Order: sequence, then structure tokens, then C-alpha cells
Amino acid sequence: MSLSSESLALLFFFFFFFFSFTLPIMGSSALPAIGVTYVHGGSHLPRPERVATTLQSLKIACVRLPAPDPDVIRAFSYSNITLLLSIPNSFIPAMASNQSNALRWLYRHVVPFYPRARISTISVGNDILDSSADLSDFLLPAIRNVYQALHELGIHKILVSTTFSFINVMTTTFPPSAAEFQEPIADSLVKPFLDFLAETNSSILLNLYPYNVYRSNSEIPIGYALFQEQPFNFRDDLITGVRYRNLFDMMVDAVISAMAVAGYEDIPVIVTETGWPSSGDATEVDASEAYAEMYNKGLVGHLQSGLGTPLRKEGVAETYIFELFDEDMKQGSESKRHWGILYPNMTKKYGIDFSGSAQVGGVDNLVVVFWLVVAILWLQWK
Ligand SMILES: *[C@@H]1O[C@H](CO)[C@@H](O)[C@H](O)[C@H]1NC(C)=O
Ligand SMILES: *[C@@H]1O[C@H](CO)[C@@H](O)[C@H](O)[C@H]1NC(C)=O
Ligand SMILES: *[C@@H]1O[C@H](CO)[C@@H](O)[C@H](O)[C@H]1NC(C)=O
Repeated sequence: MSLSSESLALLFFFFFFFFSFTLPIMGSSALPAIGVTYVHGGSHLPRPERVATTLQSLKIACVRLPAPDPDVIRAFSYSNITLLLSIPNSFIPAMASNQSNALRWLYRHVVPFYPRARISTISVGNDILDSSADLSDFLLPAIRNVYQALHELGIHKILVSTTFSFINVMTTTFPPSAAEFQEPIADSLVKPFLDFLAETNSSILLNLYPYNVYRSNSEIPIGYALFQEQPFNFRDDLITGVRYRNLFDMMVDAVISAMAVAGYEDIPVIVTETGWPSSGDATEVDASEAYAEMYNKGLVGHLQSGLGTPLRKEGVAETYIFELFDEDMKQGSESKRHWGILYPNMTKKYGIDFSGSAQVGGVDNLVVVFWLVVAILWLQWK
């Protein structure tokens, strides 16, 4: 059997179609997706529908909702922004004890909106090591119950994980090759958790603030924390012979190195929170608008460069800037801190350009186009 000239023309057409679609996707899939943490609520903030539209026009790829409300998830149903949802810590004991509690949460926050709302990841809890209640015995059972419940609902593509804080889970920042997970949780909690991530192809989620490490280490130059490329801004890891030019990469590689020592080489890293405050209390002399702008612009530029980190050429998979709206934090010592990148009237606080970043899930489009082409060619052949 031979192809007719018509079929050949179609074949050329679809190959052209295929490559014109896939090349830009393949070109950008190595870049990490850049997003923001969106703390919603408060009558002074714009409606979630308006927020979703604005974020889409700013080319923000992904949004993290630390305490998701169904109305906010619904607002993102008509955008191509992917969502990372966090289940609040207070739900963890109940979800650990009975899978139907996990199912109930999913019925409210996922089932009505998925897959139109592009939920990519669910974090079971946020920084439980910092919580006043000891939740460590409940965490893994809760994670497993959420995972099982999703599968019971026939949802297989949403990743399940939890979020740790870098400073609560790592022993050291420098040299990265010497970093390990803190005991006693390293063996009791982190390793079984990494097992789960490896089994389910999920990612490790970390709140990672160079700002905090810089504040507690007087020998770190400010330019090194702010992505300023200067001749003397580097530190060498003498064990691996690797040179670091910014603090962010060093912290990410500390995590990658600790995972490798524990036997896990390829678990993707998602930075769920990072940022720099533009103002703080009297002790926070480096919380300034100029530094916050340098950090956020430097971070986005570094991620968009596609250089990755010295230990992992594809770098982090996703990064969420903390946070979207610039407003007074509600409680305690953080009352004077401002972290946001947009004012409540939706104007940009800094001139950050997100348009060179990847979208989460570009590879899915590639697979769809591929099978479309195969199906059409097969029909032609017959
Ligand atoms: C879990 O909760 C469901 C519904 O509330 C209940 O029927 C079931 O008996 C519970 N299972 C356990 C093991 O407690
Ligand atoms: C994880 O990924 C591997 C390789 O892509 C695949 O073979 C395996 O089925 C995946 N496992 C799950 C649980 O999705
Ligand atoms: C938005 O709010 C900021 C901060 O309050 C203010 O400086 C700016 O002028 C406002 N922009 C508009 C267009 O209202």
C-alpha cells in the first residue's frame, strides 16, 4: 500500500502543524514556572475573579492558595493558571484518622472544579514542624489518605505532598554538599515521606527564604542574597568543587544534596514561598523597597535564564513568590512587614516581567498533539 499524493500533502501539513506547536513548548519546558502565593480575604482586596484575570494578563503561570476557599478556586476555572492548594494544618489529625475526612475536603475543594481549574498539587499542611501541636505522627497517614481518596475519585494527575520550611528541616546551608535533614525527624518523618514522593512521582515543597539565612549569618554579603552578579560574590563548595553565585541556588542545592545522601536523586523541588520584605520592624534594616525589588527581579531573571542550579541543570520545577498583595500582615511581629508584589489596587509595586516563564503542564499539550497526529495519519492510511 502506498500513500496517495493527497495523504502525503496532509502528512506534511500535520508535521508542520506538529512542530510549530511543539517547538515552543519543548523550548520552554525546561524553565521553571513562576507564580505567587495568594492570601485572599479581606474586603479591601479585589474580587478573586478580577485577581485571576489580572494574574493571567501578567503571565503568572501558577498560584498557591495557602487556605483555599472554593470561591477562589472557582475564579481560576476559566484561566490557564495552575493551582497549588494547601490543606490547613488543623485538618491533619482528622484526615489521618479517617480517609472519609480527606474525601470530604476533596468534594468541596477539588471535585466541583477539576479539571477545568488546573489543580496541579495538594500540600497536606504547611510547615507542620513550626506548629504548636505535634503533628508529625499524623502527617504521613494524612498524606496517604488524601492520595488514596484522590485515586478513589479517579483523579490520578494531582500530586500530593507537604510543605516544609527550609530552616526547620535542614541542618546547614553551607557547604550545600554537607547539608542533611535535621534529626530526629530525618529518619522518622522525612525519609518515609521521600519514599512516598518517589513512589508517586511527586515533588518536595519548601518555603525557602534567603532573607532569613542572610539575617542570621553576618558574613553573607547582601549582593549574594540579592542575585547581584559581582566579581567577589561567590562561594565555593570545596567538596564538590562547585561555585555558587547566589544564596538561593545554594539553599536549593543543600536540599538536593541532602535528598541524594538519603538515596533520592530525582525528586523535583518546588519552592512554595520565597521573597523579601519591603519594610519591617526596627531590627530589620535590610527590609527595604530597593532590596525587595532587587531580590524579586533577580529571582525571576535567574529562573528565566534556565541555568538551573550547579547540582541540577533543570533547577527548581516551580517557584511561588511570597506574596501577591502588599498589605499589613495580620498578626504578631510581622505586623509591619510588607512582602507583596501588587498593591491592593492591582498596580504593580515592582516592574517584574513574568512573560518569559514556562507554564506548568506544557508537556500534556505535546502528548495531545502527538496522539492527534497519529490518529489522523492512521485514518489517512486506511
Ligand atoms: C470513617 O468515617 C465514616 C463516615 O463518617 C464512618 O462511616 C467510618 O466508620 C469511619 N471509619 C473509621 C475507621 O473510623
Ligand atoms: C512514575 O513515573 C514513572 C516513569 O515516568 C512511571 O513508570 C510510573 O508509572 C509513575 N508512577 C506513578 C505512581 O504515577
Ligand atoms: C495604587 O496604590 C498605590 C499604593 O497605595 C499608590 O501609590 C498608587 O498611586 C495607586 N495607583 C492607582 C492607579 O491608583
